[in-house]
Amino acid sequence: MSSPFIRIRGLQKHYQMGGVTVRALDGVDIDIPRQTFTVVMGPSGSGKSTLLYLLGGLDRPTGGQIEFDGQRLDEMDENQLALFRRKAVGFIFQSYNLIQSMNAAENVGFPMQFAGFSPKERAARSLDLLARVSLGDRSLHRPSELSGGQQQRVAIARSLVNEPSLILADEPTGNLDTASGAGIMQLLSDLHKSGRTVLVVSHDPRMVRFATHKIFLLDGRVVSENEYHAASLE
Ligand SMILES: Nc1ncnc2c1ncn2[C@@H]1O[C@H](COP(=O)(O)OP(=O)(O)OP(=O)(O)O)[C@@H](O)[C@H]1O
Ligand SMILES: [Mg+2]
Repeated sequence: MSSPFIRIRGLQKHYQMGGVTVRALDGVDIDIPRQTFTVVMGPSGSGKSTLLYLLGGLDRPTGGQIEFDGQRLDEMDENQLALFRRKAVGFIFQSYNLIQSMNAAENVGFPMQFAGFSPKERAARSLDLLARVSLGDRSLHRPSELSGGQQQRVAIARSLVNEPSLILADEPTGNLDTASGAGIMQLLSDLHKSGRTVLVVSHDPRMVRFATHKIFLLDGRVVSENEYHAASLE
């Protein structure tokens, strides 16, 4: 039997805050098969971002295991984890996280600096990626000269630079109007259809419609859809 693409067991992330332990994740088990589209849902503070950060190797667990394509993230040293972040994962944030002093093409090319590409290769590849997110005509614009939806498309282009197999997106449409949000959701769906594994934190019903898998979090634990709706604060 082959193991799933991502296998999470007993995952914990605890924070010590003035003598109090905050259990951001409190024993989470999740299997994510390859080439799926998973939507993560949960109320504010339930541990959604924490889960994405641990999966993306941006932070380390307090306990438990994260296996990614047969590799144990929780056992990697800093160098291995940095390599993992660079090669395997594309991260998309709610607030885009673009560098304000750089234009769109430079933002997209930025992660390539660390992967041994020449400036010429970087420029060509950045333009190609911007074209893929329909921003071929905006390569010289800085973030402040782009709409929110366009900035998020630049961020998506940037996340694809190293051809990651896993795309993590934390409320990628949270700051966008309905129409721009729909474009971003379509892009993420296209990435899934082109063979990537996508994991998105979102409560948008249109995003949930793309989901092949759903994860419901309450107080740092995974619950069933029924439990989630029963406890729903809506
Ligand atoms: N660096 C930190 N130090 C201490 N506590 C933290 C830290 N980061 C997160 N937490 C706590 O961990 C819990 C989970 O936080 P997390 O950001 O994962 O929630 P979330 O589900 O993403 O919420 P939101 O929907 O508001 O983004 C929260 O109670 C939060 O206060
Ligand atoms: Mg969050």
